[in-house]
Amino acid sequence: MSMLFSPLTLRSITFRNRIFVSPMCQYSSHNGLPTDWHLVHLGSRAVGGAGLVMVEATAISPEGRISPDDSGIWSDAHAEAFVPITRFIREQGAVPGIQLAHAGRKGSCSLPWLGGGPLGMGACGWQPLAPSAVPFDVGHPVPRAITLDELDEIEAQFRAAAHRALAAGFQVVELHMAHGYLLHEFLSPLVNQRGDDYGGSLENRLRFPLRVARGVRQEWPKELPLFVRISATDWAAGGWDIDQSVLLARQLKELGVDLMDCSSGFAVPDEPVPFGPGFQVPFAARVRAEAGIASGAVGFITEPAQAEQIVATGQADVVLLGRQMLRDPYWPLHAAKALRVEIPWPNQYLRAN
Ligand code: FNR
Repeated sequence: MSMLFSPLTLRSITFRNRIFVSPMCQYSSHNGLPTDWHLVHLGSRAVGGAGLVMVEATAISPEGRISPDDSGIWSDAHAEAFVPITRFIREQGAVPGIQLAHAGRKGSCSLPWLGGGPLGMGACGWQPLAPSAVPFDVGHPVPRAITLDELDEIEAQFRAAAHRALAAGFQVVELHMAHGYLLHEFLSPLVNQRGDDYGGSLENRLRFPLRVARGVRQEWPKELPLFVRISATDWAAGGWDIDQSVLLARQLKELGVDLMDCSSGFAVPDEPVPFGPGFQVPFAARVRAEAGIASGAVGFITEPAQAEQIVATGQADVVLLGRQMLRDPYWPLHAAKALRVEIPWPNQYLRAN
């Protein structure tokens, strides 16, 4: 029996299998609104058999975007524009999820295929916000340190975004606390230099991310799952690490988070990351075992047997696939064949099975 293809239930939602599409920026939105690209891109992966299709990092405010072409959900019009996408994903038997994000000091950059560098304060750039006025790297803008009033505002924007995600038809919300974006910036002692209640000690660094999680949990219906993506380590001396991640996961579990999606890195430039097959799986395994919460493994998971093994050995409850899903939107259908598991194909494609 395949564990990878066994259903998973979190709160009222049953995922048909444990293969999730990892959130991936498409840089194809107009003023934050999803486009036909999103319908086709996300829709194809739902047709391809994934259990959950997660929309890319979606900004809770215009200045919370990485690039001007990022997805956003800061108005009712944005929520409305996602409705056909969530409807289509659900019609294919997949669960639609959305990652809610604020880019923090890594905001205001150009598209990756235009270099991805900082835009500056020109026509389409803006001054990013961050816990402290420390730039990400040489050549990056100095962000403005967030005031206490602005913390209230950002929490309210996360809450409103969750509310709109529901109106848009999403069934899972994931909070982006990874990859050096705003909430991770609060967690990491390498980035957070604040001298108030939101910086310094571990308790203080956790305070704002926990506030956001608590606020979103209050807005997000009790019957729907809430995920959090973390960078389980900064891969840097004196940085955020897996021990702190376990502690954070315990507290997030207490306030109603259902699954920890365990990525790593990207808070500071030039970290020595040991990229390789399944290199982040041990983080998902530790968080799951030591915090007693469901976890997701992500990163260089490409092979059906590898994915099956991660789930079957209890290292994670689900796998999230990123680039492999870009290479092959039908990966779950192909993986089922490789693992000799019978799963239904879309009726329209039956003659290809
Ligand atoms: C990403 N990744 C990413 N992560 C995230 O949390 N939010 C996001 O919006 C994005 N955007 C994004 C865009 C693109 C084009 C890529 C390739 C990646 C990271 C992604 O979700 C995943 O964690 C990594 O790609 C590692 O997994 P794979 O690709 O090795 O399966």
